Amino acid sequence: MSATSSCRICGDTVTEFIDFGKQPASDAFVKPGEEDREFFFRLAVGICGSCDMVQLMEEVPREQMFHEDYPYLSSGSSVMRAHFEGLAKRFLTTELTGEDPFIVELGSNDGTMLNTIAKAGVRHLGVEPSGGVAELAATKGIRVRKDFFEESTATAIRSEDGAADVIYAANTLCHIPYMESILRGVTTLLAPNGVFVFEDPYFAEIVERASFDQVYDEHFYFFTARSVDEMARRHGLELVDVERLAVHGGEVRYTLARPGARQRTAAVAELLASEEAAKLTSPATLTDFRERVEKNRDDLMAFLREQRAQGKRVVGYGATAKSATVTNYLGITPELVSFVCDTTPAKQGKLTPGAHLPVKPPSAFHADYPDYALLFAWNHAEEIMANEQAFREAGGKWVLYVPTVHIV
Ligand code: SAH
Ligand code: TYD
Repeated sequence: MSATSSCRICGDTVTEFIDFGKQPASDAFVKPGEEDREFFFRLAVGICGSCDMVQLMEEVPREQMFHEDYPYLSSGSSVMRAHFEGLAKRFLTTELTGEDPFIVELGSNDGTMLNTIAKAGVRHLGVEPSGGVAELAATKGIRVRKDFFEESTATAIRSEDGAADVIYAANTLCHIPYMESILRGVTTLLAPNGVFVFEDPYFAEIVERASFDQVYDEHFYFFTARSVDEMARRHGLELVDVERLAVHGGEVRYTLARPGARQRTAAVAELLASEEAAKLTSPATLTDFRERVEKNRDDLMAFLREQRAQGKRVVGYGATAKSATVTNYLGITPELVSFVCDTTPAKQGKLTPGAHLPVKPPSAFHADYPDYALLFAWNHAEEIMANEQAFREAGGKWVLYVPTVHIV
């Protein structure tokens, strides 16, 4: 019998379809010597039989994930910096052209998106609970409220700053299990003709690419047009536009508005129809997904064991949150992947969560190229491979595990 839980959107039954076992918090990099203090939970995913929302079976307490030392930096990729600058400029010429416009960003992190808005002199507020990254944004001159966004935060912002023309969240809404409070907050804070825009990994891309490493503690929801449509309606909002994005392995940007405030675009019906035609969330599709994931797991482990047997050296590239799922699901040890290189200062010198692979700066990779680089940051493949051309010229090879294990 499958395990079940209660849907965080509609309360109906969620049925599990894939289990990754015991996992640590994915961004909890460990100081050497503190390995015995780690937090673990059971990482498994299910789907609601009623509203179709794909979600984790177990919730990790938010303070366990988002705190002073939260290490992720939005500015760590030049592609993402350009992505956010482009969107900020678009907002400045579309939604933020009225009298004294106001934009609120949830999960503003180090201020990569709001930077462009602040420089344009437009009224803004970032809501960011993780102290270290919030501080980085503040030093750039961005206005930040160090807080978790929820209904009470929205009420406070509304009374201090008035209604928002845009509420924006990138790679943040899917991190927040307590959706009822969030959407009540959004309806409290949003101006009558305002828009709530959010972008997150698209479940159809995860299924297509078997990108199982998109599943980790922080990614609580895996949205589809259908589930977001249902979620919006239940909370007095309407899904009015969708836009597919190539970043982070394939995302969708959803736009919600108050019912009747905006005309729904044709793109919404198209995406809904494509999900239905693909039977995206049917039991057969989900079983096939699980089987492909298990094959990727087995193929990658066989590859790593084979390299060790042949005396070849493999190094991980990108100490991503995603890689926690890969290393712990497979049981990767430092004998198989000697270290992981990463540009993030707060990750360097630490050990990856659970698997305890040492994290080193890219200079360690450059100093002594391995035979293979296992690309944990595969969502930044183009950018990284372009920057690391010398590795390939020196005879090094990239290993990827989505959509299947392959060498580049
Ligand atoms: N928007 C950035 C950061 C994504 S990481 C980007 O796309 O690169 C997710 C961020 O959401 C983290 O910085 C985390 O601290 C923040 N976060 C988590 N829960 C939140 C909440 N309830 N309200 C606002 N931000 C939240
Ligand atoms: P990312 O895949 O964006 O997110 P997540 O942690 O949510 O899975 O993380 C990319 C990581 O890779 C981040 O720690 C920074 C690192 N990185 C490099 O080391 N070099 C690079 O050139 C790029 C683009 C990222």
